[in-house]
Amino acid sequence: MGKPRILVVDDSKLSAKMIEDRLAASGFQVDVAFSAEEAIANLSTPDAVLPDLVISDVVMPGMDGYQFCQWLRGNPATVHIPVIMLTSKGGVSAKVDGFQAGADDYLVKPVDPVELEMRIKVLLARMKAAQATAGRTMDASQARIISVFSLRGGVGVTSVAVNLAVALAQLWQTEVPLVDLALESGHCALMLDLKPKHSLADLADRGPEAIDDALLDGVLIRHDSGVRVLPAPPSPELADTITPTLVGTVLTMLQPQFPYLVVDTPSRFDEVTLAALDQSDVIVLLLTPEIACLKVTTAALDVFQALEYPPQKLIAVLNWPFARGGLPQKNVEAALHTPLGMVIPHERALFVEAINRGVPLVLSHPEAPASLALQQLAYRLSGKQPPAQKAKAPSGMLLRVQELVKRA
Ligand SMILES: Nc1ncnc2c1ncn2[C@@H]1O[C@H](COP(=O)(O)OP(=O)(O)O)[C@@H](O)[C@H]1O
Ligand SMILES: [Mg+2]
Repeated sequence: MGKPRILVVDDSKLSAKMIEDRLAASGFQVDVAFSAEEAIANLSTPDAVLPDLVISDVVMPGMDGYQFCQWLRGNPATVHIPVIMLTSKGGVSAKVDGFQAGADDYLVKPVDPVELEMRIKVLLARMKAAQATAGRTMDASQARIISVFSLRGGVGVTSVAVNLAVALAQLWQTEVPLVDLALESGHCALMLDLKPKHSLADLADRGPEAIDDALLDGVLIRHDSGVRVLPAPPSPELADTITPTLVGTVLTMLQPQFPYLVVDTPSRFDEVTLAALDQSDVIVLLLTPEIACLKVTTAALDVFQALEYPPQKLIAVLNWPFARGGLPQKNVEAALHTPLGMVIPHERALFVEAINRGVPLVLSHPEAPASLALQQLAYRLSGKQPPAQKAKAPSGMLLRVQELVKRA
C-alpha cells in the first residue's frame, strides 16, 4: 500500500494549509477541497481516486460538514470512508450532530497536531482490520442478503421488502430474488400481482439435499421489474414443512447467482427467521414511531447484540404507516440509541392502491416521497461494489437517486 490518502475539506485556506503541511510531513498524501461542493464534484468524477480518510470542517458556506458527511454516507462508494469532523464548534450537542451525520471522530479546533495524527492512525488501522474481516466473510461476487424485519406486525415489513427488491432490480438492471419467509401469510407475490404455481413448500417436499439450480429456478417466479419471487407456501398449514436447513440451503444456493437477495420475514424470532437473519449481510430493522413498537425494537436489538451481530449489520428504518400521532423522530433515535438509516414518510392512499393493483410504489409512483426514500435506501444498501449495469445507459432510477443524493 502507498501513502494513505487524506482529503481535507475546509473553507479556511489557512486552516487547510496548516493541516495539509502537517499531514504531508507525517507521510500522508493530502488532497484539499475548499468547500463540500468542490469535494463532492471531485469525488463524483468517474476516475476519482477515493481517499482513505476524510477530515472535514463543520461550519462552511453552502453545504456544511454534517450535510457533507451525510452525502458520504449516502453514496455506496464512500459510505465506508472514515470521517473526522474538525471544528470550532464545541459542546456536546454539536458533537452528537456530527456523530448522527455519520462522523467517526470529532475534534475541536485548535487541535493538537500530534493528537490529530494519532486519531487518523487509529481510524485507518481500524478500517484496515474491518476490511480484512469483511474480505474473509464477504466475497464481492456473492449476493448481499438483505432481510427486512420487525418484531411488530403491520409496520410495513412486506411493503418495504417488495419495494426494496424492485428498486435494487431497477437501479442495477439485474435480477433480484425476493424470498418470502412470512410463511403463514406470505404476500410478496400478491403485492406484485403474481400467481405462483410453486412455492417453498415444493422445495420442502423434495428435501434440501434434492434441490438443484434448475429446480430452484423453476420455483422463482419472474416479475417484469427483474424481481424473482420465491413464494411462501400457499396455505398456512404448510408453513411447518419449511425448516431452517431448507432456508439455509436455498439462500446459500442463490447467493453466488445474484448480486442481491431480499428476504421478507414474519414478526417473530423463530428458527427459520433466525436462520435467515444469521445468514444476512444486512438487517433492515423496521419500526414505527410509537411506544409499543419502540419496546419490541429495543428487545430485538438486545437479541441481535446477544447473537453478536456486528452493529453495521443493522440499519434502523422508521416507517409511517399512519398519518398522525407518532413520536418525534428525535425521541425515537434517543430511545434506540441508534441514528435512523432512513425515514419513510406516510403515503395516505398510495400504499393501499399499490397493494390493490399489485404494482409496488417505486414503480407506480416513483416520485412520491415514500418512494424516493425507498429508492435511496436501496441505493444505500447496494454496498461498495454495486453490480455493473447490463444496459449501456444507467437506469432512470439510478440517475434520479444519484441526483437526490447529490442534493441531499
Ligand atoms: N409509509 C406508509 N404509508 C402508508 N401506508 C403504509 C406505509 N407503509 C406501510 N403501509 C401500509 O401498512 C399496512 C401493513 O403493511 P405490510 O407491509 O403488510 O406490513 P407487515 O409486513 O409489517 O405486516 C399495509 O396496508 C400497507 O399498505
Ligand atoms: Mg408482512
